[in-house]
Amino acid sequence: MIRKAVIPAAGLGTHFLPATKAQPKEMLPIIDIPTIQYVVQECVDSGIEDILIITGKGKRSIEDHFDRNVELEQRILEREDEFWYNELRHIDSMANIHFIRQKEQNGLGDAIYCARFHCGNEPFAVLLGDSVNDSVIPITQQMIDAYEQYHQTIIAVQQVPAEKISRYGVVGGEFLSDRIMRVNDIVEKPAAEAAPSSWAVAGRYILTPEIFAAIERIPSRADRTVELTDALKVLLQDEPVTAMRIEGTRYDIGSKLDYLKTTVDFALKRKEFAEPFAAFLRERLNEFDKK
Ligand code: UTP
Repeated sequence: MIRKAVIPAAGLGTHFLPATKAQPKEMLPIIDIPTIQYVVQECVDSGIEDILIITGKGKRSIEDHFDRNVELEQRILEREDEFWYNELRHIDSMANIHFIRQKEQNGLGDAIYCARFHCGNEPFAVLLGDSVNDSVIPITQQMIDAYEQYHQTIIAVQQVPAEKISRYGVVGGEFLSDRIMRVNDIVEKPAAEAAPSSWAVAGRYILTPEIFAAIERIPSRADRTVELTDALKVLLQDEPVTAMRIEGTRYDIGSKLDYLKTTVDFALKRKEFAEPFAAFLRERLNEFDKK
């Protein structure tokens, strides 16, 4: 059973400067909800309520967001605004959230290593704090279902066009069914010609506790980072690893263009914005096409 989730959210967000100079990328709102709130909601919707968020320097607003703000609640109550009062209380009570700080931003493997005492000897879910999904069944629930079948490390994957593959961790292996691949290789950000397949890691994992020993065994890269992908490659020598094709759409808000696309898609799905926003977009696109 998967009871715990780890959300790494300590990265520097250098691809989103200057917005991320003094605020966490994970707090960038998709319309009006901070990205990391969607990620926490995905855990809750998948039955996980014990969540460890890995934070770091400059990430205080993440802790504040999931804490109570009594002064604000009081003001809202004075206005008899029950809707927003309930919304505020929902955010601070949606899960049992713990925080730990990654002292230096030395990569995803290093961030996950910070969770070793919290996770102990249990398998756990990992959800990147800058990536959200739109799916009928929450992606983490899909991962848990796969774990319950295979009892192995599960890596969420999605197919990516060749010109974008060098931005991702990429798995290689053999598909056992439409959605399930037995992994025999994993490479971080390969050149298109060196990629083992077109299947890229999609921001969600179920990891076994053996990952911590694997992280200890890998050397830091030249830039001092410790990559999860390298640890998974080491793990592959000792135990089987499975990749699962996600059913749904993944949005990575870590790049500016993807963030814009995410905002547009989410706005078009919101009842109160869909029509006026679509009308606005049509008008703008007509003007744009005439130029
Ligand atoms: P990214 O590599 O996308 O985030 O990590 P980053 O390092 O912040 O981004 P850039 O490249 O500088 O723009 C994916 C997730 O892992 C977390 C990030 O916060 C993000 O949610 N992460 C990354 C850590 O927690 N620690 C790290 O050292 C690196």
